[in-house]
Amino acid sequence: MKHHPLGLHMTPLCPRPPKAAGFRSADVRAASAAVALALALTACTGGEADPAASGGSASPSPSSTPATGERDELTVVDSKHIPGLEEKTVTEDLAGGVEAELSYPSIPNADPFTDRLAEIIKLEAHDFAGAEPDAKSYSVDWDVSVARGNVMAVRLTQREKDGDGERTRHSTYWYNTESGHTAYSTELLAGQEQLEKLHSLVEDRLLDRDGVRSASLQPIAEVYDSLGFNANGDLVAEFDEGQVAPAGKGRVRAVVPADEVRPLLSSLGERAQQAAVVVTPKFEIEQAASAPKGGKSAGSVPGMHPPAAGEVDCDDPSSKCIALTFDDGPGARTPRLLNALEKHDAKATFFVTGGPVRQHPDTVRRTYAEGHELANHTVHHPDLTSIAKSGVTDELTTVNKLVRRETGYTMDLMRPPYGATDGAVADVAEKMGQAQILWNVDTYDWRDRDAGIVSDRAVQRAQPGSIVLMHDIHSTTVKAVPEILERLDDKGYTMVTVSQLLGETEPGKKYTEGKPEESPDSPSPSP
Ligand code: NI
Repeated sequence: MKHHPLGLHMTPLCPRPPKAAGFRSADVRAASAAVALALALTACTGGEADPAASGGSASPSPSSTPATGERDELTVVDSKHIPGLEEKTVTEDLAGGVEAELSYPSIPNADPFTDRLAEIIKLEAHDFAGAEPDAKSYSVDWDVSVARGNVMAVRLTQREKDGDGERTRHSTYWYNTESGHTAYSTELLAGQEQLEKLHSLVEDRLLDRDGVRSASLQPIAEVYDSLGFNANGDLVAEFDEGQVAPAGKGRVRAVVPADEVRPLLSSLGERAQQAAVVVTPKFEIEQAASAPKGGKSAGSVPGMHPPAAGEVDCDDPSSKCIALTFDDGPGARTPRLLNALEKHDAKATFFVTGGPVRQHPDTVRRTYAEGHELANHTVHHPDLTSIAKSGVTDELTTVNKLVRRETGYTMDLMRPPYGATDGAVADVAEKMGQAQILWNVDTYDWRDRDAGIVSDRAVQRAQPGSIVLMHDIHSTTVKAVPEILERLDDKGYTMVTVSQLLGETEPGKKYTEGKPEESPDSPSPSP
C-alpha cells in the first residue's frame, strides 16, 4: 500500500521471546543478526523509555519527541513504531459487479479493534454499492492516527466512485486497549450537550465559507465521524467530500484550539488529546482485552438517537401519546414542518422513499438530528403484494442503506405503500428486522388538498394511542400541521415517535395503533 512504505510487514523492532518468528539463530547471518537483536533489546528494555506512555501527562517526557504534522490534519503515527502491525486486505464483490478493495490494520493484541474495523468497512462498502445504482469502484485505506498509553485511533479513507464522480470520505475509530471498546469519534466528547457545543464552535468556523450549508452540518455521529487531534492537541473535525459543501469544494475541516475543546472532552477524549501530541517510539499492547461485553448502546454515544428514547412513558394513560406519521417524503417543505414540530417540542415519524432521500439528504439528517424517527417506505412505492419477494427485499434494503449512509441509523420500522401487505411481505420485513406500521387515523390529505379539512380530520379522529397518516409532500398538509399540533397540545396529547408509542416491536408484525393487534392475514408462526 502506497501510504505505508516503511512500516508494513516489517520484522517487529522488538521481538518478544516466545514469538521471535523471522529470526533464525541457525542463519548464516546469525552473528550480525545477534548484534542487531541485542541492540533492539537494549532499545526495548529501555523502551519503558517512555514513562508518559502509560501515564496521563500531557507534556512530552524528556525521552519522547513531540508529534509533528499539519495544523488542519489529524496526527499520523508511522507504523514502524508499532511492532507486528500488519495490513489486511480483502476484496468484496459488491452489488452491480463492483469489486471493492478493503484494507485495514491488524495490531497484535487488538483483535476486537481489528474485527470491528473489518465489520464496519464491509457494511459501508455494501451500503455504498446498494445505495448508489451506478456504483463504479470502492476502496478503503487507513492510517494510525494515535497509539499511546491505552489509546489507539485508526483513520479510514474511503474512496468511492459512481456516476457523479469520485469522492473521498474519512472516518476515525478510537480503541481502548484495556477495555477492548471501539469508540466512535463522538465518544471523544463527554455527551450530547458537549457535541452540540463543539458543533456550534465548528459552525462559527465554517458557515458561509466554501459553500458549507448549515442544513447539512448536523450534530450527529455520522457527520462528526472523523474527529482527532493535530500535533498541538487542537481538535480537528473533518467532513466527507460533498457532505457539508458541494463535492467540488474538496474536503472541509475545522480546527478547534486545544484549550477551547478540552472542557468538552470525555476521559477517552482527554487521554486521546494527550496521546496525540507525542510520538511513542514503540507502541505495544501487552495484554489483549477480551471482546467488550455488549459495548455501548447507541443511546450513550453522542450524536446517535434511538427513536424510542425520551422521557415520555406511553404506557401511562395520562401521557395521551399519539404518533403523527408522514409518508412519501422528505419534500421541499419538510423543513418547515420540522420547524413547527420543534416549536411544539413534538416528535413524529417519517416513512421515507428512495428518490426523496436522494434529493433531500440534508433534511434526512436534520430529521434524525432532531430526534424524529426515520422509517422505511420503499424505494419506488410499489404495491409490495404484486411483486416477488426478492423485489420486496430490494425495495426495503436500498432505503435502509440510503438512510444509513446519511445518518448512521438502521431503521426498525417499515410501512408498505397503500397499506398493502401479505404473508410474503411480512416474511421479508421480519428478515430485515422491521415491524410493519399501518395506521388507524387516515386524514386523506392526498385527496383533499385543504389544510382546514386535513387538520379537522386529524384532530377529530385522534384517540390516545392513534397512529395518524399524513404526507409531507403536500403543501396543504405542511400548512395544516401547526394547527394540528396546537389543537392536540390543547387536548393534552403528547406527540411521540412510533417507537415511543409502541415500545419494542416485533419484526414482521403488523401494528395499526398503540396496542398491537392480531390481524387475520398476519402470518402464523411457522411450525
Ligand atoms: Ni405512501
